[in-house]
Amino acid sequence: MTTANAAGDMSAEALQAAAHRHLWLHFTRMSSYQGTDMPVIVRGSGQYVYDARGKRYLDGLSGLFVSQIGHGRTEVAEAGARQAAELAYFPLWSYAHPRAIELAERLAALAPGDLNRVFFTTSGSEAVESAWKMAKQYFATIGQPHRYKVLSREIAYHGTSMGALAITGLPDIKIPFEPLPPGGVRVPNTNFYRAPGFVADDLTAFGRWAADEIERAILREGPDSVAAVYLEPVQNSGGCFPPPPGYFPRVREICDRYGVLLVSDEVICAFGRLGYYFGSQRYGYQPDVITFAKGVTSGYAPLGGMIVSDRLMEPFNDGPATFLHGVTFAGHPVSAAVALANLDVFEKEDLLGNVRANEAAFRSTLGKLTDLPIVGDVRGDGYFYGIEMVKEKTTRETFTGEESERLLRGFLSHALFDAGLICRADDRGDPVIQLAPPLTCTQEHFDEIEQILRSVLTEAWKQI
Ligand SMILES: Cc1ncc(COP(=O)(O)O)c(C=O)c1O
Repeated sequence: MTTANAAGDMSAEALQAAAHRHLWLHFTRMSSYQGTDMPVIVRGSGQYVYDARGKRYLDGLSGLFVSQIGHGRTEVAEAGARQAAELAYFPLWSYAHPRAIELAERLAALAPGDLNRVFFTTSGSEAVESAWKMAKQYFATIGQPHRYKVLSREIAYHGTSMGALAITGLPDIKIPFEPLPPGGVRVPNTNFYRAPGFVADDLTAFGRWAADEIERAILREGPDSVAAVYLEPVQNSGGCFPPPPGYFPRVREICDRYGVLLVSDEVICAFGRLGYYFGSQRYGYQPDVITFAKGVTSGYAPLGGMIVSDRLMEPFNDGPATFLHGVTFAGHPVSAAVALANLDVFEKEDLLGNVRANEAAFRSTLGKLTDLPIVGDVRGDGYFYGIEMVKEKTTRETFTGEESERLLRGFLSHALFDAGLICRADDRGDPVIQLAPPLTCTQEHFDEIEQILRSVLTEAWKQI
């Protein structure tokens, strides 16, 4: 039984009761909500969202790295509604529809180099997995059927479906689902704050070492068995690891030397997060495939996909060759219409320009937090930052598992939310707070983020 309020919706109390009884949250310890309210977000406007009791929160994570243009944009919502009325659904299996065609053309024009062919999916995991399947079939088609392995970095998150999970580099979220598809191989990430001693004081040498580890892994595995390397422009998981200077050019060189595909997983980093349509453009490297999702629609509808080079498409253009893969809702007309309207907002409001103009201010505002004893490192680029927390600043000593549990789950996550900031306290690597606010944010929002973090982190330090 549920209770309705005047608007016909469920009351805040009824929502809580039904959520506790019926809803299963993702990556969430459900027991942590026993006897306490689940956060229920009911609406959004600009950079802010509101809960069922009317309280306002600054959306410092764009939902989940998604809401680039912010919330409550009626013109984007209306584009979706118009499309649903005109053609709500038709598959991309053997047919095309105008919005998918228009969006594919527009993405190809925005993407770097010869990335001209778009294969749509509904999510990032599907995009990542589709790229792996495409790589395997591509190599089989050109007479290199033994190439199936994929390299990716330690602690990197590339999704949760079984194939994507095999590429993800977080052991804890893989173990319950093993055995996973074979072929996932790990290489070091670019966490300079935790660099090995022999390169710890030289960022360029560290980057060179990390890139060369990819070559060593290819040689170890056997070059003829490696299909692709998956890298995010800035690795999210672990707390924002930007690439050291020279890292990506070196990786490109290595991939070319061994005929391995470079997949730029831009599920987070595309669509303005780093001040460019694609993260690879910021760091000046040419991928063979870009995977995307999230910001392509700013979350007004779900959509993902991969953009593939002309060279990789070539064998699929001839004779009976067919990419044996598809998803019912991929490139959904409503999602494609919404993505086009989302990109219109990007252009009209020069959101890339806004990120580029303000990112230094965002960086320096967050940088003020380094005067706190708990803040070890503030790192990232664009509107994408990680703040690493430490127990001891000079030695960079991190927290024990038990301390981290108490700090992140026991205190920080709730305290930040209660203080009106949505961000993420994460300990999948060392404990970090992750920030990725809407691309419309300006100094007033940076200040609000800094002030909330300052007061909550000061309190956290007292509790350790
Ligand atoms: C880099 C990266 N790849 C893939 C994914 C998976 O995307 P989705 O959750 O849409 O399946 C994510 C999700 O956060 C991601 O950050």
